[in-house]
Amino acid sequence: MCGIVAYVGSKPCLPVLLEGLKRLEYRGYDSAGVAVLRPAHAGEAGPGVTTTAREVGRVMNLENAIAPRTAGFAGTTGIAHTRWATHGKVTRANAHPHAGVTAEGLTLSVVHNGTIENYASLRTLLQNKGVTFASETDTEVIAKLIADRYDAEPEGGDQPSPGESLSGFIPSTRLERATKAALRRVTGAYAVAVVCDANPHELVAARKGSPLIVGIADNGFVVASDGAAIVSHTTAAVTLADYQVVRLAAGPAGSTDAAGERHAAAWADPLHTTTLDDELLTAEVGELEMQLEEIELGGYPHYMIKEIMGQPESLRTCFRGRVDTRDGRVVLGGLTGLSRELVRAKRVALIGQGTAFHAGLIGEYLFEDLAKIPARAHYASELRYRNPIIEEGTVVVAVSQSGETADTLAAIAEAKDRGALALGAVNVVGSSIPRETDAGVYLRVGPEIGVASTKAFVGQVAVLTMMALYMGKRRYLSQADLDGYLAELERIPDHVAEIVQQSDHIKEAVEDVVTRDNWLFLGRGYNYPVALEGALKLKEISYIHAEGMPAAEMKHGPIALIDEGMPVVFVATGGSQYSKVISNIEEVKARGGRVLAVADEGDTQIDRYADHVFRVPPVSEPLQPLLTVVPLQLLAYHAAVLRGHDVDKPRNLAKSVTVE
Ligand code: F6R
Repeated sequence: MCGIVAYVGSKPCLPVLLEGLKRLEYRGYDSAGVAVLRPAHAGEAGPGVTTTAREVGRVMNLENAIAPRTAGFAGTTGIAHTRWATHGKVTRANAHPHAGVTAEGLTLSVVHNGTIENYASLRTLLQNKGVTFASETDTEVIAKLIADRYDAEPEGGDQPSPGESLSGFIPSTRLERATKAALRRVTGAYAVAVVCDANPHELVAARKGSPLIVGIADNGFVVASDGAAIVSHTTAAVTLADYQVVRLAAGPAGSTDAAGERHAAAWADPLHTTTLDDELLTAEVGELEMQLEEIELGGYPHYMIKEIMGQPESLRTCFRGRVDTRDGRVVLGGLTGLSRELVRAKRVALIGQGTAFHAGLIGEYLFEDLAKIPARAHYASELRYRNPIIEEGTVVVAVSQSGETADTLAAIAEAKDRGALALGAVNVVGSSIPRETDAGVYLRVGPEIGVASTKAFVGQVAVLTMMALYMGKRRYLSQADLDGYLAELERIPDHVAEIVQQSDHIKEAVEDVVTRDNWLFLGRGYNYPVALEGALKLKEISYIHAEGMPAAEMKHGPIALIDEGMPVVFVATGGSQYSKVISNIEEVKARGGRVLAVADEGDTQIDRYADHVFRVPPVSEPLQPLLTVVPLQLLAYHAAVLRGHDVDKPRNLAKSVTVE
């Protein structure tokens, strides 16, 4: 939700910023903007000059607007942003970067991801001081507040306080101090990057609640909301923690920065990092776990289809070293040392939003079935404001692709306050949820770029299945049953590879019904959450209205919707409720509905009832969702393409929802 990219170093920054914005576009695509700093030429006022461009819509619009005047963007320091609107409409005035002007006439530019909760009162405070605003955004309040604090800070680098030793003292800059002073006054979530034309070789960045990573490349620093904008430059990176602030400086050889430090090399300042309260921190440099190929289209027309087709490999990686059929065990290193808590647990609460919530619903069935423990899935956003029975002895499993979903993070905090053990089932390594939970298991399905979640969903279900088996083995599950599930799990990636081969067949079926604006998705048991997920996939990318529900529920009202030709998608795989699903199909056919069914290979009975059948290899019921969701993902994909929509960037959506 909003993407930030910033650069300071020895290279022209514009290409780095535009490439970074394109890689982060899935985080928001309402508008995009860039501010570049260059040293002032002879005759120009000030040490630096800031040039800004902002455009409504995609990054491409910004690129086109800049194309005729790239010479104006010739600096080596800059910040950029792609926006998902929260405060204020989608207009150029509301696009980032936002600016504040100091009393000395210096321009301060800011890009921001997050939400400032007290922005209205800060705005009034500043307005009372005579500050005027050009936008409706909370970000402009940060920019103006930093400018206000800049005026209050003394010039130049600071000095050690009386009695403090000079050794180890690192002077901070005026921009850094002003940024911290402003951020200490805001409440809410932010990741910010700030530049000021007082020094065209300095960048300050900070985070609280929204992700921010600093990549350390040979030629400078690349700061971004996620590794996708960094990985083509470097894999060495520092993931900022909440309340961490970095000052990054670069300058021509022998230059002196605003803190009075001399630069020996073309860019030379080490990463200087402190807390918001001025405690010096040691930057922990890690490796980005991301390959460039993983974030490129690789010949596919869309990320979504690349990610659907890549699910066999994603699942192989997810299971590797964890599904141990030889020794008959599930190996989850992230849960080591928790056996006692898992054996004694009284209940499991699964929390998430959207697709992750649907995975959690499947987890509800899995934990009850395989580990014989009461389990319940909750929308994280609802759990937080209820008085849920979550206490010591409750295991909370937070399910998330991004690891940054604000509602899920808030629910984790609530659950931990109540004494629960918090576990994560998260895809993005080093994101906030793994930091906030006590332990967890990564999905390991690789970066998911398509806004509609596909491979992360199967990864979430796969991890929850392994967790339930892991817990089950420590409680009631027999070794024989575990061995059976492990053998089946090992074959799941091959089964998915078989299913995706039906893509063209699914497309033909979709052509038959794609003009219809209302669809139903029905399933029972483990496949009821799959029906919900199928409906969500369809509506979010094709804008077709779709509802998912338990198949039996249809008779209690929704059946009134069914008329001649209404598409009804059934998940009708074999198992304890197969015959009941067949009866539901008959009820739909009797009213003229058009039936599309996901059914087992070898099920010939279904052909008598369904207009289109998509096949999956038969597996035990607890493992069916890993397969049955795949035809529904393809169905949604083809419907959206046939309707001419931008599959990877559906309207109004953003990949990671970092506001509540
Ligand atoms: C739908 C989708 C969303 C996310 C939800 C939670 O395709 O992607 O419903 O599942 O916003 O996001 P994460 O998993 O990042 O916590």
